[in-house]
Amino acid sequence: MQSTARVLVTGGAGYIGTHTCIQLLSAGYQLLVLDNFSNSSPEALHRVQAITGIEVPGIEGDINDAALLDRLFEQHAIDAVIHFAGLKAVGESVAQPLRYYHNNVSGTVTLCQAMQRAGVFNLVFSSSATVYGDPATLPIREDFPTSATNPYGRSKLIIEEILGDLYTSDPRWNVALLRYFNPVGAHPSGLIGEDPSDIPNNLMPYIAQVAVGRRERLSVFGSDYPTVDGTGVRDYIHVMDLADGHVRALAWLQQGLGIKAFNLGTGRGYSVLEMLKAFEQACGKTLAYELVARRPGDVASCYADPTLAEQELGWKATLGIEAMCADGWRWQSQNPEGYRS
Ligand code: NAD
Ligand code: WQD
Repeated sequence: MQSTARVLVTGGAGYIGTHTCIQLLSAGYQLLVLDNFSNSSPEALHRVQAITGIEVPGIEGDINDAALLDRLFEQHAIDAVIHFAGLKAVGESVAQPLRYYHNNVSGTVTLCQAMQRAGVFNLVFSSSATVYGDPATLPIREDFPTSATNPYGRSKLIIEEILGDLYTSDPRWNVALLRYFNPVGAHPSGLIGEDPSDIPNNLMPYIAQVAVGRRERLSVFGSDYPTVDGTGVRDYIHVMDLADGHVRALAWLQQGLGIKAFNLGTGRGYSVLEMLKAFEQACGKTLAYELVARRPGDVASCYADPTLAEQELGWKATLGIEAMCADGWRWQSQNPEGYRS
């Protein structure tokens, strides 16, 4: 992929999408963002523009709208698609499975059909470490067995399989399946970051909201796991590192190597209490917490073997938990109510 190519970014107004747009723009790519703003706001794209000084054309629309997709591919010379658009709340997916399968699975099928009609065969897909279920050993390699424990995770697995079938049917497809571990942090400007519309499900935004006074205390889900301090261990990855992984994946597509899954993680895990302490350092406050029961469906530990991404994409995470927490805190403290601040 020439770095002057035009990339369609679905879900580009979201948390990972906005950070990736910045790294793509600074690498010279031209962008077109498609987002239905179901979990984001146009303000996020204005902020991307403020950071980069480059206007980001944003279309409000849905990946399930085939006619709209056809128009976009017709009107813009698109070379590749980075596909972030999706719903991602695990609990919600258990309560509303059809909504998740329609949005994530049908949406991806509709997108790929439009790509096929337009003759665009380069795709980077946002997958997740959730496809590994409860791994038998650690660190997790890409060739480990996959399984799903909830409709959200199953939607990612099904999409990975559909994309595999698509490649088998037509080897012109080039697909990078990026399996993200736990993205956290924010752009160092503090202008963009994660902005949950409801009570945060994820650890880092919850801690950040405690730090800013929006929540009283963190509930630590489980303190009897076989880990360093009994709390769950995850591979937290700075969202700017993750964004760079997408720039590398676009370059990888250019080699025409077909479909491949890559772990995007640091290779090192931290416990909930270690993350809490690191965030306390970053914000200079003591943060209240209580130890409560395990959250159903959680695994004790999960971290990546990121060797394949280093070997094949030339990508490696560079930022540690200090930067993750400092940048996450800058975003939260400058925007206590997120983009509504
Ligand atoms: P996000 O909700 O911030 O971003 C997703 C964006 O997609 C939002 O802007 C939303 O409005 C948009 N969107 C959703 N459905 C759409 C549709 N049908 N048509 C058009 N736009 C639509 O989430 P994120 O954290 O940036 O995640 C991006 C992708 O990465 C998702 O596919 C998610 O499943 C995946 N992922 C996220 C994590 C994580 O922890 N954040 C981990 C692994 C994988
Ligand atoms: C991390 C750790 C919790 C909140 C989820 C999805 C996964 C992927 C990333 C999209 C765990 C503990 C959390 C809290 C806590 N998303 N925790 N108190 O569960 O690893 O992964 O997000 O693909 O699919 O399942 O991330 O941030 O929710 O939890 O103690 O209020 O923090 O138990 O040990 P998780 P998380």
